[in-house]
Amino acid sequence: MENCGIVTKKNNFNRNDIENNINEFYCDDYSYETIKEIADFLLEKTQLRPKIGIICGSGLNSLADRLENTDAFPYEEIPYFPISTVEGHVGRMVFGYLNGVPVMCMQGRFHYYEGYPLAKCSMPVRVMKLVGVTHLLATNAAGGLNPKFKVGDIMIVRDHINMMGFAGNSPLQGPNDSRFGPRFPPMAKAYSKDLIKICKRIIKDMGSENDVHEGVYTCLGGPNYETVAELKMLRTIGVDAVGMSTVHEVLTAKHCDITAFAFSLITNKCSLDYDSSDEEANHEEVVSVGQSRQEFCGDVIYQMVRAIHDEEIAKDN
Ligand code: HPA
Repeated sequence: MENCGIVTKKNNFNRNDIENNINEFYCDDYSYETIKEIADFLLEKTQLRPKIGIICGSGLNSLADRLENTDAFPYEEIPYFPISTVEGHVGRMVFGYLNGVPVMCMQGRFHYYEGYPLAKCSMPVRVMKLVGVTHLLATNAAGGLNPKFKVGDIMIVRDHINMMGFAGNSPLQGPNDSRFGPRFPPMAKAYSKDLIKICKRIIKDMGSENDVHEGVYTCLGGPNYETVAELKMLRTIGVDAVGMSTVHEVLTAKHCDITAFAFSLITNKCSLDYDSSDEEANHEEVVSVGQSRQEFCGDVIYQMVRAIHDEEIAKDN
């Protein structure tokens, strides 16, 4: 389990080495049974039975501090969990009530650039599924490629381009366990139209519709920010915002039939021009814009969970 991560090079492979390394690479150790063990561990320790899961992005972790009557689990205390290594990300799974609605919230997520395989990065989404979550709300910080976007705006993710998938890297690769979902899951409706509608209505009612857009997100492996040529290419293929997360979480959610929603906080403008006087992207700016907009982003999620609970979840019960 501990080794689930990078394939280590050995000089003389034998069949067992190769099989073990393939299992490590595909993170095959996160079997259904292991995920169930993690979910049962949490369910035993909390009375809450959330149907909404939340993943907090860079600088947006304070959302978890709004939860009431919480049961919080530092990642190092949850069996089989990796630890979050990024500055600006705490590392806890927090159960609690947000606007009166039971939720479970990842305060800090796992990224590919930390050295974890994609399946490990998005493993907590499967834990959410086995806890009983039906709706996932993910937030992230992203660079704005669409020239209409301002720093501090929100882009509701209408769709994504899975660049890492183009390169043959997916959280769903390796053996498929149909108890989670099908071998070949569709992604044409990855982002719920109903949740997008709810989010837009809430932001309009807050009087902030000028600060919100809908668009296409892409995730790159990072940790470096992009070159101008890379950004130009992304813009040409239709990307509005670029980040280093979320896509693999949404793939994993959709695979196991969780309704998914995501928004990006635009923390910096991506320069498509070599002569631009814009500052180069940097983590300090990303975290600082996150902090300055976390109250607004938190208000949006706060209202969304109530609306989703009343309009989506209650009607199913
Ligand atoms: N690129 C990639 N990821 C990011 C950016 C960016 O410009 N800003 C915040 N996360």
